[in-house]
Amino acid sequence: MSEYFNLKWFDKNLAFICEDLMNDHARTLAVRALYLVILGSLLMIAVPYGISWYIDGLTNQLLDAMLVGGIMFLGLQLFEIMISFARQRVRERFFQQAFWFLPQAITALSFARPLSFLTSQSSDINGGGIESLRDKVWSVIGNYIFTIIPIYGLAIFGIAACFFAHPLIGLAATLYAVVELGLGRFNNRFIQTEMRPVIDLFKRWDRRMSEWWHNLDHIKHQGVETKILGLIHDEVQVALQGDDRVWRIYYSNWIAIRQTISLVFAMVIYGATGYLVYTGVVSGANGVLVFFSMQRVRNTLRELSDQQREVQFNLASIAKYRRVLKKDVPFCYDEGEDFAGRDICVAFDHVSHTVQTQDEIPKPILRDVSLDIPTGMKVGVVGPSGAGKSQLMSLLVRATDPGSGQVLVNNQDLRELKLESLLRYYGVIMQKSEPYEDTILGNLLFGVSHLDLPVAYEGLPAHKQAKICALARTALDKAGLDPAQFDDGIHTNIGYKGLTLSGGQQQRLQIAAAHLKINITSDRPRLILADEPTASLDSMSELTVMQHLQEELPKDTTMLMVAHRLSTVANMDKIVFVRPLAMCDNNTTQVTMHDSLAQLYTAEALFREMADAQQFVPEGIKKAA
Ligand SMILES: Nc1ncnc2c1ncn2[C@@H]1O[C@H](COP(=O)(O)OP(=O)(O)OP(=O)(O)O)[C@@H](O)[C@H]1O
Ligand SMILES: [Mg+2]
Repeated sequence: MSEYFNLKWFDKNLAFICEDLMNDHARTLAVRALYLVILGSLLMIAVPYGISWYIDGLTNQLLDAMLVGGIMFLGLQLFEIMISFARQRVRERFFQQAFWFLPQAITALSFARPLSFLTSQSSDINGGGIESLRDKVWSVIGNYIFTIIPIYGLAIFGIAACFFAHPLIGLAATLYAVVELGLGRFNNRFIQTEMRPVIDLFKRWDRRMSEWWHNLDHIKHQGVETKILGLIHDEVQVALQGDDRVWRIYYSNWIAIRQTISLVFAMVIYGATGYLVYTGVVSGANGVLVFFSMQRVRNTLRELSDQQREVQFNLASIAKYRRVLKKDVPFCYDEGEDFAGRDICVAFDHVSHTVQTQDEIPKPILRDVSLDIPTGMKVGVVGPSGAGKSQLMSLLVRATDPGSGQVLVNNQDLRELKLESLLRYYGVIMQKSEPYEDTILGNLLFGVSHLDLPVAYEGLPAHKQAKICALARTALDKAGLDPAQFDDGIHTNIGYKGLTLSGGQQQRLQIAAAHLKINITSDRPRLILADEPTASLDSMSELTVMQHLQEELPKDTTMLMVAHRLSTVANMDKIVFVRPLAMCDNNTTQVTMHDSLAQLYTAEALFREMADAQQFVPEGIKKAA
């Protein structure tokens, strides 16, 4: 089709579908269907005229006119039935045969173009969702071939019949059609503009949802699950309200106005025709013709119910969001006893832990781990990669529960505590966590519990905002991240998954977040869990960052720090060594605690290998040259 004229001029969606989504075969089918519809339309419109001509040369007898009108009416009905039958047939052929590019096209589309490209410019209104794209594509192509073209045909037929009765009636009918079409266009455009922010909102929400749930570990570790659910809830409510509003405007204003105008026009034409028949200017037979030709009015009214169906269809996608909101959350952060303490000591009591591999095969990671870490102790955790160090940390934030044994905080089983109240006192720097598509400040405030900051930053009075900004700047400074290098300082949006930041900058952002948590209220946090906090930093930055991290802590803050670079943990009070379970025989204790790296070096051959590989000589060890 596109060889003959520029489809983009006609409709951008249609052009996109024909040029990008269809292959030659599909295009041929579409063109053939189009020709058939045009031919059928012409025939169906011409045949009733022909029959009536045959009966009495477009009669002046009222009875014959009734017959002519009846034949035309039936003919048009038949025409509509045939069109919808053909529509179904073609639809099935389009979808059942594999020549349609849809699967690849959908994939490409979801990467290359926002879905709203299709939705926002057609009259289909929907919050989006890839599963309904198929229907949308069909709806655009099918509407053109089977609805819009026949409707133009019907309108021409109706107007021609009116002209035949009397030029004035013909003019009125033309005016009617023009107004109807114009209103329809204006209507759609209006809805698109109104709908745009709502669609954008849904899109943003979808993106955030996936970002949040991808980073579920981060949410769990920071104990901000309730806060996140609250945010999601708020955003969806706004989106739903916007959506409801659009539908209300649509119905109360546009459909009502449009239908009223249609009806007024119909009444004017019918009234005028009646008057002209009464005064003898128009024959009764032609009056009947006008009556039947104006069945477009009926069609318009029928459109109303179509639109209602459309609303139902769209409401289904909104219902989807509502269902998501009501979904049970897999972990419960606001259950259990409030954490009443301040200082934190932790202990592992005969903890064993098994994870499920992707094939659902249980894989033991930790076996019979017992550790006792009193308040204020700084512990370095070392061991080969994959030994289970991060798992040990995950157990402490209850990102996962142990298979057997107990993880204790202040001698209380972690499972009995309300995590939301406990994790406020934790500063967690995870081995890997992606920042969110938000500002630098937004990312820093992410881990701050809503118990500490009940109102979102945007809702705070100016002086409190200024205070938080100052705290954030200090925290960033301590982590060695200078916000001045970004366009909008701490209000710079760092992009999807923080893509505009380097690995080291992302890590500094996490460290800064821990600093901010320390300073947002006095004397906190009481437990620092740091899993390779400086892995992406060079040794020089590491030194300053570590210095800040350790100096900043109140004296009785407990700390567990995992590190591969042994110099990082050289000054710790104790060293925990985690040996991979695969390297343990039945009598080996998997996790052991040592007074210093030197002691560990003497006691553990496996550790000696690790240290030697780094050319690291613990203080107090005399290495034979
Ligand atoms: N969610 C999971 N599903 C399956 N296996 C897992 C999962 N998480 C960790 N593991 C496995 O548990 C073992 C311990 O992982 P962990 O992340 O605790 O190691 P690590 O000591 O922190 O290693 P690294 O020093 O490389 O960070 C690894 O062998 C890993 O394959
Ligand atoms: Mg790890």
